[in-house]
Amino acid sequence: MRPVTEAAAIKAPTLPDSQTVTQVKHWTDRLFSFRVTRPASLRFRSGEFVMIGLLGDNGKPLLRAYSIASPAWDEELEFYSIKVQDGPLTSKLQHIQPGDEIILRPKPVGTLVHDALLPGKRIWFFATGTGFAPFASLLREPQTYEDYDEVIITHTCREVAELEYGRQLIEEIRQDELLAELMGEGFADKIRYYPTTTREESPRMGRITELLKDGTVFADLGIDGGIKAETDRAMVCGSLAFNHDIKAILEGFGLTEGANSDPREFVIEKAFVG
Ligand code: A2P
Repeated sequence: MRPVTEAAAIKAPTLPDSQTVTQVKHWTDRLFSFRVTRPASLRFRSGEFVMIGLLGDNGKPLLRAYSIASPAWDEELEFYSIKVQDGPLTSKLQHIQPGDEIILRPKPVGTLVHDALLPGKRIWFFATGTGFAPFASLLREPQTYEDYDEVIITHTCREVAELEYGRQLIEEIRQDELLAELMGEGFADKIRYYPTTTREESPRMGRITELLKDGTVFADLGIDGGIKAETDRAMVCGSLAFNHDIKAILEGFGLTEGANSDPREFVIEKAFVG
């Protein structure tokens, strides 16, 4: 056997904080989800994000913030990502296969956590595009159903196919017996799913912001008097422009923005990788 030379040892691929890809699913030519092994030491709160990535061409880690789409109790970690053809990370990340390694820094953070909200009766999850990811986690989190009587998830995408990851996930949640055991019988009846599209015909069209402003959402869901600061809580995850517009709407209803250190009526996070 040949001794390993110093140069070879330095060159050997050593991914810091590496995790193994276990599953990859492509939803559209712009969207995919994947699962990876979970570091034994990683504890997080459903709704938080971590930095993940690959080694760049220069040998340095190329990392981006990704919301963890799986719940805190899951033994693996799930992520939901856009594919940007000339994006430094996602142009490469979209080609991962089961067995490949990615880098995952085990330091979860984020504001879309139950601790950042005051107690309420009804929670709204407002998502656009891949902003659905933290809610994929929170919709599988028992505390969501312990804390609230009603859980409304709105998801606005350009096209119908972009809703599919969320639609399937909610259908699975509703049918999963294991989840029912974990969350308590009847938990799924609390979920109200409100998908909309903006650039392709679908049963419900339009930006959620417009549908909130003209009252369509409340009429569709049979909610009297709209959103109220006493009873309603909200979490928001989408593009900067979307977050800005929803924030103004929620403040118009009298809700104020909270944080981990200052729980209030709503919290916001940007859907990161664009
Ligand atoms: P629209 O098609 O009218 O721009 P994107 O793919 O650009 O991230 O957008 C995802 C979805 O979010 C699209 O349906 C888009 O609608 C919608 N959207 C983008 N900006 C806003 C905003 N400021 N308020 C409400 N919806 C928005």
